[in-house]
Amino acid sequence: MRKPIIAGNWKMNKTAAEAEKLINELKPLVAKSKPEVVICVPYTDLWIAKNAIAGSKIKLGAENVAWADSGAFTGEISAAMLKEIGVEYVIIGHSERRQYFGETDKTVNMRLVQALKNDLKPIVCVGETLEEREKNKTKKVLKKQILEGFDGITDFTNIVIAYEPVWAIGTGKTATAEDANKTIGYIRSLIKKTFGAEVAKNLRIQYGGSMKPGNAKELMAMRNIDGGLIGGAALKAEDFAGIVNYKG
Ligand code: PGA
Repeated sequence: MRKPIIAGNWKMNKTAAEAEKLINELKPLVAKSKPEVVICVPYTDLWIAKNAIAGSKIKLGAENVAWADSGAFTGEISAAMLKEIGVEYVIIGHSERRQYFGETDKTVNMRLVQALKNDLKPIVCVGETLEEREKNKTKKVLKKQILEGFDGITDFTNIVIAYEPVWAIGTGKTATAEDANKTIGYIRSLIKKTFGAEVAKNLRIQYGGSMKPGNAKELMAMRNIDGGLIGGAALKAEDFAGIVNYKG
């Protein structure tokens, strides 16, 4: 059985003081949660978040990780820096990184290798744009992202994939549960073909894109959907808790 995983992606929101407040509001609301709960926060919030989640079930994640151990990489944050704080998860290849910061499947792969080498658990994002979808290129895009992004990877134990159709991120448009399930099913079949049945069976694949308390239950009921990567709704304690507690 794959354990559901709900992860918040705070993006570039919340100062350290705001982060502490949000976590303190969130803690009691998710105290009895069944899924694994992760918050991926800006680098400057990591220390305060680490202290604020102490004694709770909430796990800590970052929003990226450098591909190099150390050195002349201005603006990057290394795996060792994250590990020292106690970070467990890292988002890699989010569509905003791909769109605005030149992230490619190659750099996704390099960051992924580095995360795994340092025992960080990667949440690797894939997904098609609206234009690609309208041109019927969804499968082709996902195939490239997966084959190149996961090139050379053999151990998927700690990996989570987030399928996030770019047109559904922050737009209020959600893929229908059936549609998301079908596309995630395609991703799983591709993983099976490329990396084997055992990997495909155990790999957790989240849906992301305008997931909210109101649609979480329906999405999570789908056979192939093992969790959510939550942007906007992760910034309010009641909303995020409403998703985490989708079973009621
Ligand atoms: P959203 O973002 O929930 O605000 O659509 C999801 C994401 O970008 O991970």
